[in-house]
Amino acid sequence: MKSSLAGITYSLLNEEKSGIELLNLCRDLHSLFLEVSGFDPEIKESTANIKLNRGTAIGSTWAAMCILDFNRTQKFLKAINNAIKDKIDIQQNSSVQILYAGCGPFATLITPLLTLFREDQIKCTFIDINPVSIESLRNTLKAFDLESYIQKIELCDILEYQMNPLNSPDIVICETLQAGLRKEPQVAIYLHLGSQVKESTTFIPEKIEVHAGLLDSNLDYKRMMGELKDHESCIQILTPLLALEKSIYQSIDKHHHDSYIHFETKIFIPQELHGFDRICLLTKIKLYQDIELTYWESPLTIPVQLISLGPEQAGQVLKVHFELSSEPEFNLKFL
Ligand SMILES: C[S@@+](CC[C@H](N)C(=O)[O-])C[C@H]1O[C@@H](n2cnc3c(N)ncnc32)[C@H](O)[C@@H]1O
Repeated sequence: MKSSLAGITYSLLNEEKSGIELLNLCRDLHSLFLEVSGFDPEIKESTANIKLNRGTAIGSTWAAMCILDFNRTQKFLKAINNAIKDKIDIQQNSSVQILYAGCGPFATLITPLLTLFREDQIKCTFIDINPVSIESLRNTLKAFDLESYIQKIELCDILEYQMNPLNSPDIVICETLQAGLRKEPQVAIYLHLGSQVKESTTFIPEKIEVHAGLLDSNLDYKRMMGELKDHESCIQILTPLLALEKSIYQSIDKHHHDSYIHFETKIFIPQELHGFDRICLLTKIKLYQDIELTYWESPLTIPVQLISLGPEQAGQVLKVHFELSSEPEFNLKFL
């Protein structure tokens, strides 16, 4: 079992693959995890989402299926592998402490990598709010004989989690997001954890940027049909809305996250629309150093269409703010 996991990990990290080959490899990984964990994705306890007051924690079945987002899975694994190696080079004698916030049923973004490092090099704390996922994770790590890499497994809401200040993590992994930072609690989690970590902690993703942009829905249709070479020609960036990165969440007073919640900006719609007929959210994710997920590479970075535009909207101004509520999202209103 462990050798199958190691084989898939090697291929994901080292081999040149086409999209379909990568998808098949991720399907193999998903099947292997299902087989060893005994996790049943069909039952209602697995499919149920958990509503939180800062976003939704998607059910274990859907968290498991994130594996099949193949560009995401491969790039996260490459990014985390590089980050671990860099920390080992710097720290040498002490093990790299990893906090995996929202690990899901298999801790997909670290479990494969554990086959590459010795147990004295990495110690992981796993957190998830979903008991189905936590039970499945325990079974998974046991089946692959990876339990010696566990520091702690916590069944809790990350937003309630208080770190031990004497043992702050070297790397935080968190992928609790959807395109446009909507619905899931990534923003709240980054703000909460960002205010507790040490200066040298690396967050993966390192930066999540959302811009407001214009989209030409006819060109976008051609892109979907495979008839458009230059995908970026169907969008035009207008205004930066939010860049979630360490410098921002470390500068925010941990008791005053509200200042961030009410963060506001304006979008000026151009007078000439040149065929653009939608306002959209454009999400780009810098995972680690030069590894990033750019537009359309993953469902996480697909442009989110918000408002239809016609001649009446040309030249108008929109007010935007990010609402950090149970349904996190950007709210747009014409002024
Ligand atoms: C999008 S899934 C990602 C699963 C896995 N880490 C991956 O990348 O394949 C997000 C996970 O985060 C968990 N989660 C979301 N919000 C949480 C919170 N506030 N506290 C604890 N876990 C949370 C969900 O239960 C879910 O398992």
